[in-house]
Amino acid sequence: MMNIAVAQSGGPTCAINASLVGVFCESLKVAEIDAIFGSINGIEGMIENHLVDLKTMILSNNDMDLLRQTPSTVLGSCRYKLPDWKEDPSDYEKIAETLKQRNIGAFLYIGGNDSMDTVNKLSEYFAEISLDVKVIGIPKTIDNDLCVTDHTPGFGSAAKYVATTMHEITRDSIVYSIPSVTIVEIMGRHAGWLTASSAVLHAMGETAPHLVYVPEVKFSLEGFLSDVRQEMSKHKAVIIAVSEGIEVPEGVQSGVVDNFGHKYLSGIGKYLEDVIRSQIGCKVRSIELNVMQRCSSHLGSKTDIDEAEAIGAAGVRCALAGQTGKVMVFRRIEDIPYTVTIETADASQIANKEKFLPKNYINSAGNNIRNFALSYFLPLIQGDLNLVKEHGIPKHFAIHESVLK
Ligand code: F6P
Repeated sequence: MMNIAVAQSGGPTCAINASLVGVFCESLKVAEIDAIFGSINGIEGMIENHLVDLKTMILSNNDMDLLRQTPSTVLGSCRYKLPDWKEDPSDYEKIAETLKQRNIGAFLYIGGNDSMDTVNKLSEYFAEISLDVKVIGIPKTIDNDLCVTDHTPGFGSAAKYVATTMHEITRDSIVYSIPSVTIVEIMGRHAGWLTASSAVLHAMGETAPHLVYVPEVKFSLEGFLSDVRQEMSKHKAVIIAVSEGIEVPEGVQSGVVDNFGHKYLSGIGKYLEDVIRSQIGCKVRSIELNVMQRCSSHLGSKTDIDEAEAIGAAGVRCALAGQTGKVMVFRRIEDIPYTVTIETADASQIANKEKFLPKNYINSAGNNIRNFALSYFLPLIQGDLNLVKEHGIPKHFAIHESVLK
C-alpha cells in the first residue's frame, strides 16, 4: 500500500479543482492507494508537512460536483520557486522527509510553466537520492502558454468568459448616438491567447472586437491612435481587446515582481484610456477584466472542466505506470468533431518555457485575429455547467479558513 499527494499551484483558474477531482476519483479506484493527501499552498505544504487527508474533506458525490464548479484552488496556491538542489538542497530534504514520513509514492502537481519547473527539479532530485516517488505535472493556466500541449485546462473557461463579456460590453457600448471607444484589458502575461479568444465573436457575425492587441506584436502608440481613428470612421462604438502584456512605457505598471521574476501586469487599459481622452477627446472607458476572467465559473466551459478532470485522472494512471518527471498534455486530433488525446511530455520541455500565439493567427496589420484561427478556440469554449445553486447563486466547495494559511 502507498499514499498519494496532490497540490495546486500558480494563478487560479476555473478548472484546477476539477483536476483535483480527477486525481481524487482515480486514486479511489486503485486498491494499492490508501490515503490521498492534499498539500496546502502548493509545494509550500510539502516543505512544511502541511497536508490534509482529502478523504476526510471530500465526502460525497455532491462534494465532487461542488468542487467541479468551484473556481480557484481549494487547497490554496503559491508562487514558490525551488532553488537549484545542487546549490541549496534544504527545501528538497524537507519535501523528501514529508514524503517518507507519510509513505507517499506519487506526487501530482497541478500548475503552469513555473510549477513544471518544480516537477522537473523534484524528479531529478529524487533520482539523485534514489527516492522512489513519482512526480507528475497536471497542466493548468488561463494564459494557455504551456509548450507541447495543444491547450491548458482553465483556458477554455477563461476564453468563454472573455468572449461572453466582450459580447455583452458590445451591446452596452452602442446605445448612445455619440462616438465612443471601449478598451478591455485581458490577462495572459506575455502570450496573447486569451486576448485573441475575444475574436470568437467574429464567428457570430460581430465586428467587435474591432482591434485586438497581443504581446506577440510590438506595440506602437502612434499606430494604435491611427488604428483607433480609422475604426472610429467606420463604427460609432469601437471595442478594443488589449493584452495586459503589451509593452508600455515605464511607470504604467507597478514594477512588482513575483518569485519567478514575473512582473505584476495591470494598468495598460487605463493608460490607453487616458491617451485616447487626451489625443482624440471622445467618450472612452477602460475595463480591466482582472481576476473575474479566471474565477467566473458560472460561465465555465463544460469541455474545459471535463478535460481538466480527465487529465488529472490520467496523471494518476501515469504515476502508477511508473513514469516520473512527466507532464500530461493534450494532443488535438481534429477540430470538428473535436477530438483530443492525453499524452505525456518531459517536464523539462515545459518548465519555464512559454508558448506564444502563432504568428499566422494575427492579421497583417498586427491589430486583429484572422478568421481561420477561430477554429482553434471554438471547441474549447463549448458546453455549460449544470450548476448547483443556493439562493440563486452557484454554490462553492470551500475548506475551512483555518486549514489554509
Ligand atoms: O498566470 C496566470 C495569471 O492569471 C496571469 O494571467 C496574470 O498576469 C497573473 O497570473 C496574475 O498574477 P497574480 O495571481 O499574482 O495576481
